[in-house]
Amino acid sequence: MTLPNSIAIDGPASSGKSTIGVKLAERLGYLFFDTGIMYRAVTLAVIRAGITVDDEEAVTQFAQRVHIDVGPPSVADGRKEDVLLDGEDVTWAIREPAVEKWVSRVSAYAGVRKAMTELQRRIGKRGKVVMVGRDIGTVVMPDADLKIYLDASLEERAKRRYLELIQRGETVKFEEVLASLKRRDRIDTSREIAPLRPAEDAVILNTDGLSVEEVLKKVVQLCGDCEDE
Ligand code: DC
Repeated sequence: MTLPNSIAIDGPASSGKSTIGVKLAERLGYLFFDTGIMYRAVTLAVIRAGITVDDEEAVTQFAQRVHIDVGPPSVADGRKEDVLLDGEDVTWAIREPAVEKWVSRVSAYAGVRKAMTELQRRIGKRGKVVMVGRDIGTVVMPDADLKIYLDASLEERAKRRYLELIQRGETVKFEEVLASLKRRDRIDTSREIAPLRPAEDAVILNTDGLSVEEVLKKVVQLCGDCEDE
């Protein structure tokens, strides 16, 4: 009996992928890897460098140059990991509204995806990994032992995201959070390369009305089901 060695969790923004992924990885003693971080870090770097986000060539060239590092959390401030951009701690900076606004656009560029996907595959090959994103089951790790697609309605996801931001002390309006998620959903699902969609062999879990513990229980059960195969 073996546990799934590689686990892919995909789904739309704020569907709970990271929350569930980090807990599952902890439980299994696996590496947790949130691929969204890489696209966010590239976006932050692009904004800081003053590069026009519409300039695909410049953004792509830049994405190939920046150095992104992810490691275990070094500060107990609610972070799930440390994110370093060319050595600087940008763990919270990559969650800022400007990044949120542009990340879907940056992550739709072919060259950016190629650079990020290569890195992600290398990490995936090491095994014992829970990797979360939009295209993990379909593109990054199509041979993953277990593929989960976490879904939730736009309203529910906006509520979760809104509460998260308020708890973090940010001043936001619910309507703005909802509109931002809706826009990202549209770009993430309609882009030409690696659009957000469940892999054919993914287990789709709708988490509307479920607590984190309830979703985690279902996901852990799925790992157990794999054990029996
Ligand atoms: O999961 P997240 O919200 O942190 O992801 C930020 C953006 O990165 C998301 O809008 C789309 C992009 N992304 C992607 O295109 N592919 C991935 N595997 C992960 C994220």
